[in-house]
Amino acid sequence: MYNARGDEMRIVSEKRDVRDYHAQARRGGASIGLVPTMGALHEGHLSLVRRATQECDRVVVSIFVNPTQFGPGEDLEKYPRDLEADAAALEAIGADLIFAPAPAEMYAPDACTTVSVGGLTEGLCGQFRPGHFDGVTTVVCKLFNIVQPDRAYFGEKDYQQLAVIRRMVRDLDIPVEVIGMPTVREADGLALSSRNRYLSPQERAAAPKLQAALQSGAAAGREGAAGAEVERIVAEQLAQEPLFRPQYIRAVDPGSLEPLEDRSGPMVIAAAAYIGNTRLIDNIRVEG
Ligand code: PAF
Repeated sequence: MYNARGDEMRIVSEKRDVRDYHAQARRGGASIGLVPTMGALHEGHLSLVRRATQECDRVVVSIFVNPTQFGPGEDLEKYPRDLEADAAALEAIGADLIFAPAPAEMYAPDACTTVSVGGLTEGLCGQFRPGHFDGVTTVVCKLFNIVQPDRAYFGEKDYQQLAVIRRMVRDLDIPVEVIGMPTVREADGLALSSRNRYLSPQERAAAPKLQAALQSGAAAGREGAAGAEVERIVAEQLAQEPLFRPQYIRAVDPGSLEPLEDRSGPMVIAAAAYIGNTRLIDNIRVEG
């Protein structure tokens, strides 16, 4: 397979192939960008890869549906997998290497080490998905060790994940620059997500109301409303759509992710809501 840059794009499933690739790239003085994904790629992922191709000589995309970040009863089994389509999309935009390991390649049967970031992981999604962020930070740390990228690219749709990964990198002195990229949306405002394909037509039609509600909260936040008031506005608007079952709506400090409560100023308004069996998350940032 030849990518858009005229280089051969390879797909490998073993860590030692990635290490060989890395060694060869480094010998030629090439910089390496990593885009970690779970596959089922959409324009959001592709925007990360495009940015990586602009900033790095070689771009590695990992595709791994990481079992340790799914809780019991979550969608690990039915999570969409389509390596062929993903590879075609990545080749067309210039990725150089796809690392698509099997779970046994990533986790030894007796693996007993977990990378765990405290504090930041306790609220928002962390409150409802116990162990999720430990799974994310452990696998991302492993991917950083395997690929040894200069830069790694993540979407801001998963705002908490991005904050947690930045903190891990800082706290563990991992030599990688973490780059966050804006959420890519459908024309009607729905944040792109691999899980959007679970939505029925009726649910899909209602789904953009999550972003619309966050925007109403953001408008109030910009006018000086405190966190609790912003949350109330979002909740009230979301309640008008009976298909939604909100899990949380929080206005938090963009750095610490602590709830703002009666404080106003810069904030991230983050929400998770079920629509049918599909859990959607989204957020909006309000500058002070
Ligand atoms: O955002 C994701 O797709 C995953 O959480 C990540 C970062 C690839 C780790 O499995």
